[in-house]
Amino acid sequence: MTSESYLSSLFSLDGLVAVVTGGSSGIGRAITGALTHAGASVVIVARREAELTATVDELTADGGRAAWVSADLGTREAARAAAEEAAGIFGEPDILVNCAGVNLRPPMSELDDAVWDTTMAVNLEAPFVLGQRFGPGMAERGFGRIIHVTSQQAHRAFVRSGAYGVSKGALESLARSQAEAWSPYGVTCNTLVPGFVPTPLNTRLSSDPEQVAALAARTMVGRNGLAGDFAGAAVFLASRASAYVTGQSLFVDGGLSVH
Ligand SMILES: NC(=O)c1ccc[n+]([C@@H]2O[C@H](COP(=O)([O-])OP(=O)(O)OC[C@H]3O[C@@H](n4cnc5c(N)ncnc54)[C@H](OP(=O)(O)O)[C@@H]3O)[C@@H](O)[C@H]2O)c1
Repeated sequence: MTSESYLSSLFSLDGLVAVVTGGSSGIGRAITGALTHAGASVVIVARREAELTATVDELTADGGRAAWVSADLGTREAARAAAEEAAGIFGEPDILVNCAGVNLRPPMSELDDAVWDTTMAVNLEAPFVLGQRFGPGMAERGFGRIIHVTSQQAHRAFVRSGAYGVSKGALESLARSQAEAWSPYGVTCNTLVPGFVPTPLNTRLSSDPEQVAALAARTMVGRNGLAGDFAGAAVFLASRASAYVTGQSLFVDGGLSVH
């Protein structure tokens, strides 16, 4: 056996279909690129068509198979419709990555119903709706991979965690519930936990050089995260190699959480 065929037997995503929410920007875009390059056909779901088109054009120009669905995952109805549309493109997905997220952080005393509802809808309810739509089918077919993207705030309060931290903590619990339900049928459910990664999500924080340097110093590696840091972990969790890893939180944070 060549090293290429050995690595391929572990990690190749050839012939698999993936749906990645938030796949048009930041961490989700890097994960989309990684899954596509590893062989999957990927449908990305987000709102802005220009970013969706640019991402898919880049991947297809590189020889990948990718497509997009524009949807606002801020309501359950829209999430259900997006799931149907996504499954209609390359077929029912084998891999679901829930990476779309919003990060609204008023001070706790000013956190109102609107912020709470939007945060829960996008960060928690859309992953639930998509999981309910795709998880049972994956279980029936005997293979599936569900990957959620959570946060340090699933584990600790940090920079006004507010509703955001609650949504991410619940998302980790959702992953464990899904893992318990579907792992016996070959469907693993895990979470990727970033540290601080400068992206459009956190421009306020990432435009403050002192805070950026302070966060980098809190890691063990000595720098903040890059979207590309998630490529290997995402391919691993999406691949056959991770068949016995389920219900887990994989911290891709340069050691921030254990420093
Ligand atoms: N960056 C960090 O330091 C960090 C740390 C911890 C956790 N995370 C998590 O990592 C994930 C990705 O974040 P990122 O930093 O890569 O952010 P980003 O670059 O802002 O990407 C967010 C993605 O989600 C999509 N999105 C947002 N709201 C949506 C909605 N209502 N409906 C559909 N799509 C929506 C965005 O596209 P549209 O705007 O076009 O809809 C975009 O594709 C999030 O879940 C975030 O909570 C990030």
